[in-house]
Amino acid sequence: MRLVLLGPPGAGKGTLAQVLSKDWNVVHVSTGDMLREALKNRTPLGLKAKAFMENGKLVPDEIVIGLVSERLLKKDAERGFILDGFPRTVEQAKELDKEIKKLKMPITTVLYFKTSLPVIIRRLSGRRVCQNCGKNYHVTNFPPKAQGVCDACGGKLIQRPDDKEETIEERLKVYEKETSPLVDYYKKEKLLQEVPGDLDVQELGTHLNEIFKKKGLLDR
Ligand code: AP5
Repeated sequence: MRLVLLGPPGAGKGTLAQVLSKDWNVVHVSTGDMLREALKNRTPLGLKAKAFMENGKLVPDEIVIGLVSERLLKKDAERGFILDGFPRTVEQAKELDKEIKKLKMPITTVLYFKTSLPVIIRRLSGRRVCQNCGKNYHVTNFPPKAQGVCDACGGKLIQRPDDKEETIEERLKVYEKETSPLVDYYKKEKLLQEVPGDLDVQELGTHLNEIFKKKGLLDR
């Protein structure tokens, strides 16, 4: 299974990718997570990406394209992958097309999360992440056992710097301008599958399994 998850910030891409990658034993490739990791480790790439991320802008195409191309070459990606947050521009989508052609690993389907604005705002403003291991929580939807503390590693839970109100607004604008054209791009390629992003994760998982079964995608 080789999926692309497409949708606005806070649509639930990362949360669903975590569930599906475990269920299907495929690799979860999140460009956001890779960039945050690079930033945490203060690598040259992370430092280059910092200002773009903190201001809700897209990191330049050549940086993220390089990251993803390198990741897809690793052996474990042969089992299948879920691309979460990539591609995000038409340029990135074209480069991905070239890369998967070379690797002979065509995309099975592109899941487009149709998520309403109030749900997006609630999810982003309530999201908390562990500053140590990066695990995701939500103050009401997925609260930790002890307030402010990561269940997995005991790290401190913080709000992502780009989940502040003014940055959320900018991210949504950038999504509309740069990323939403990919809906038509993948529609033309006959790869787009719309999913109801407002559903809770369990319901969404069940819904997807039904669609995939019906379309015979589960074995691809
Ligand atoms: P990235 O980390 O990819 O952020 P994003 O796309 O804005 O996506 P989010 O992580 O905000 O949302 P999500 O849809 O994954 O939602 P989540 O599942 O976490 O990118 C960050 C930055 O990196 C970008 O702004 C950019 O600067 C840079 N970048 C990354 N990729 C790039 C690229 N390709 N090109 C250029 N720049 C790039 O859910 C949110 C919250 O809601 C969580 O708290 C979760 O618990 C909760 N939740 C999720 N789903 C549900 C559900 N179904 N029901 C109830 N609660 C839910």
